[in-house]
Amino acid sequence: MSEIKLEIDGREVTAEEGQTILEVASENEIDIPQLCYSKAYEPAGLCRLCLVEVRPPEGKPELKAACVYPVREGLKVETQTDRVLKARKLTAELLLARCPDSEAVREIANQHGVEEPRFSKKDLDCVLCGLCVRACEAATGESVITFVGRGPDREVLTPFELSPEECVGCGACAGVCPTNAIEMVEVEVAQEGQNSAQK
Ligand code: SF4
Ligand code: FES
Repeated sequence: MSEIKLEIDGREVTAEEGQTILEVASENEIDIPQLCYSKAYEPAGLCRLCLVEVRPPEGKPELKAACVYPVREGLKVETQTDRVLKARKLTAELLLARCPDSEAVREIANQHGVEEPRFSKKDLDCVLCGLCVRACEAATGESVITFVGRGPDREVLTPFELSPEECVGCGACAGVCPTNAIEMVEVEVAQEGQNSAQK
């Protein structure tokens, strides 16, 4: 694999082809906040907390999600510009408006200097990070839970909101959920002795 040289926050770092900005930053102890990333699964770029400013050798600087953006030779990345911090703060504010009672979300909001969201609050506990969906796929080879709906109506559900037979009660989804939105419950009668995940 060929070696790539790039700059993060003015520091020259080396990377391997195929790595993302987030991976390279993490290897070099450069902190980029993230919520929907796990080394165990393919990155999905869903939470937008890991935004950084990317300056390619040609072209204008752009905000990009570091967890899904592949490094390349000569790239300059800034992780702490005003533009980056403002964008992450807005993301944190939107998350807090969505899940005002989540401890994990409140901590993220706090880290970004958000005390109260300017947007109307909802009473949800899922931040739509998709970690549970990816964990489920990896554990069972099936999509026992998946995203349903679009835009503001998007949520994570089982198909037809029924307890699916394919659910083996492994708890992988609950284990990765950053907001504890998934609860493991005992399922009686037909699947006696088994556990199942419920949102
Ligand atoms: S239930 Fe939890 S893991 Fe799944 S998308 Fe929502 S916050 Fe993420
Ligand atoms: S960690 Fe990159 S978008 Fe969530």
